[in-house]
Amino acid sequence: MRSPRFLQLDRIDHTRLAAEASAGVAAQPASVSPKFFYDALGSRLFDAITELPAYYPTRTEAAILADHGPAIAAAVQARAGAGASLVDLGAGSCAKAARLFATLHPQRYVAVDISVDYLHHALACLQREHPAMEMIGVGLDFSARLALPAGLLDDPAVIFYPGSSIGNFSPGDALRLLREAHGLSGGGALLIGVDLLKPAERLVPAYDDELGVTAAFNLNLLNHLNRLIGSDFQVRDWRHVALFNAADSRIEMHLEARQAITVRWPGGERRFAAGERIHTENSCKWQRSDFEALLRDAGWRQVQAWTDANSDFAVLVAGAN
Ligand code: AVJ
Repeated sequence: MRSPRFLQLDRIDHTRLAAEASAGVAAQPASVSPKFFYDALGSRLFDAITELPAYYPTRTEAAILADHGPAIAAAVQARAGAGASLVDLGAGSCAKAARLFATLHPQRYVAVDISVDYLHHALACLQREHPAMEMIGVGLDFSARLALPAGLLDDPAVIFYPGSSIGNFSPGDALRLLREAHGLSGGGALLIGVDLLKPAERLVPAYDDELGVTAAFNLNLLNHLNRLIGSDFQVRDWRHVALFNAADSRIEMHLEARQAITVRWPGGERRFAAGERIHTENSCKWQRSDFEALLRDAGWRQVQAWTDANSDFAVLVAGAN
């Protein structure tokens, strides 16, 4: 049996992360990157979100992949060749990619996540089930730049980016990431999931659920900031806000001060007026034709899409050539 290889590409630099987070809190208007949601509790709260009745993206994408599995796999193989390497962006538990193994039969599986620590357990388990597959865990914050060391991927690869995580990027940053993915694929293919534009009446409840799980996910960011920068945020002083910004076609999440508050941390402080907000996430919602045009702008060809009966979500396959 093979064993997985692991490499951390850019050292997780806590000083740099803390500086980025505190600069965001101090800025006018205040904003903090959604990557700070995912501490240990935040990752569990996100998993809980995916099981909420109102949060349709995860289960809709899974249903599309299950209902059209053979056709999607055939489309991928027609573009990347049989047995191409599978590169999983934001792999986490690796569960979504593992479900593709039976149809795609990759010779090599490259799981990429912000910290290689998240990948050890999942890859060790997967290797036992697939003893002949080459498995590599890579720690990389690809939100800044997506590239792997030369030699790690020599053949065409299938870049797998599920879950509508692309929605966290502005259209301009999404274009950049998709271009980098095109380069990384080495003449292979892309398999990506994207949440589609729909009326605000359906979008907002997915981000403001009745159980308050999304509110807890958003507010937990404050506890993470307190550990990261040593701030004195009190969760009870803040309120979860989710709204649909129609002009920019995106859900926005914010944390709103319930009253005037001064937040202090070593080396800084920030006064918030009552009602003032910290912007914590954008989740862009795409029209299918606009997303297909974005893929073409990024260099992708032979775009094919599958959706559910309501056209809530799309799974797209594209070829590099
Ligand atoms: C992980 C970025 C796809 O935008 O729907 C879920 C994150 N935020 N509920 C999304 C999220 C609040 C999610 N993504």
